[in-house]
Amino acid sequence: MNSPAFLADIQSRETARRHDHRQRALPQSPTPISFADNDYLALSRHSAVIQAGQQALDKYGTSARAARLLAGPCPEHQKLESALASWKGTERALLFASGYLTPLGAIPALVGLGDTILMERNAHACLFDGAKLSDARLRLFSRHDLTTLKKGLDAALALNPKGKILVVVESLHSMDGDLAPLAQIIRFKTEAGAWLLLDEAHAGGIFGEQGAGLASELGLTSFVDLQMGTLGKSLGSSGGFIASRGTIIDHLLNEARTFLFGTALSPSAAASAEAALSIIRSAEGDQLRQKLKQNISQFISSYPSPQAGPIHPIHCGSNSAAAAATQHLQQLGLNVPAIRTPTVPTGTARLRLSLSARHSQDEVAKVIHALKNLPLS
Ligand SMILES: Cc1ncc(COP(=O)(O)O)c(C=O)c1O
Repeated sequence: MNSPAFLADIQSRETARRHDHRQRALPQSPTPISFADNDYLALSRHSAVIQAGQQALDKYGTSARAARLLAGPCPEHQKLESALASWKGTERALLFASGYLTPLGAIPALVGLGDTILMERNAHACLFDGAKLSDARLRLFSRHDLTTLKKGLDAALALNPKGKILVVVESLHSMDGDLAPLAQIIRFKTEAGAWLLLDEAHAGGIFGEQGAGLASELGLTSFVDLQMGTLGKSLGSSGGFIASRGTIIDHLLNEARTFLFGTALSPSAAASAEAALSIIRSAEGDQLRQKLKQNISQFISSYPSPQAGPIHPIHCGSNSAAAAATQHLQQLGLNVPAIRTPTVPTGTARLRLSLSARHSQDEVAKVIHALKNLPLS
């Protein structure tokens, strides 16, 4: 405990964070109206979703008790994987204990030394961390300028014509709220013989028929090599998954280390997610998407936002301005979190407002009024 090097490093990093207004602390008291979470269809509080989790708790206990390959078959995992594969239009799906752990296992299982990953510049931390865990060369491109993707693909092919190339993109961007130009990305990756891992964490449940995602909405599912998703957002639970061809799923369950070497998702989380997925695919799911759409329309008709989905960035510039704006809204009973570096690039700190089917018209009106009167410095 008395090694001065550790303490000096910890202290100097805290000083730097405080200086840049990016020191975080856990929230202590709940804010009455939340525009912070990703429970887009309000399914985490749905009685059927809660009941399914409770029944699985009674039947299987609180834990999966071990990694999947050791613990023996769990019907809740198997049922959910079949349902996810059917939803995504793939042969099979494989569950991971969280969305975050999904690419950390999948990416290093797919590419290594001599291969190239082409990742969109502002991709989620878990996609970057998955890339870092592989020994592949990492190159960035901009989803707003796909000539950068084309150049990256050409360069990777020139450098190692026999190497594999994995393109990694979020469909609905978690912080910017915009949609990837998927058709063009698929055209380029197909021409180059690359594979695409599409992270539909935020689009799942919302876009496409039965909420199957952006690839499904655009009729491009069969061109996506690996469809990644999370159970922690529209599916109201926790966990992550890859949906793909059977051979790829077999490969991942043999080689994805975060699948192999960690305790599996709890049976109750799987049962809740499966109940949520049934609702998402039903007429009730359509009604929830309709309610979410109404909330989005109400918001964008009164507040200028370039986005048509549930995620709206309200740009503040500096970390300190974003933190002050969040605090101001909190005093009004509204939780709209500040997103600062390193989550977003320097100078683009923002509030991230996410809408849900749960919000009432009055709540949306309240946040619009508060945002319009925000004292942005
Ligand atoms: C784009 C994206 N992918 C993956 C994840 C990780 O998913 P989970 O929160 O379910 O672990 C997140 C989480 O916010 C995300 O925004």
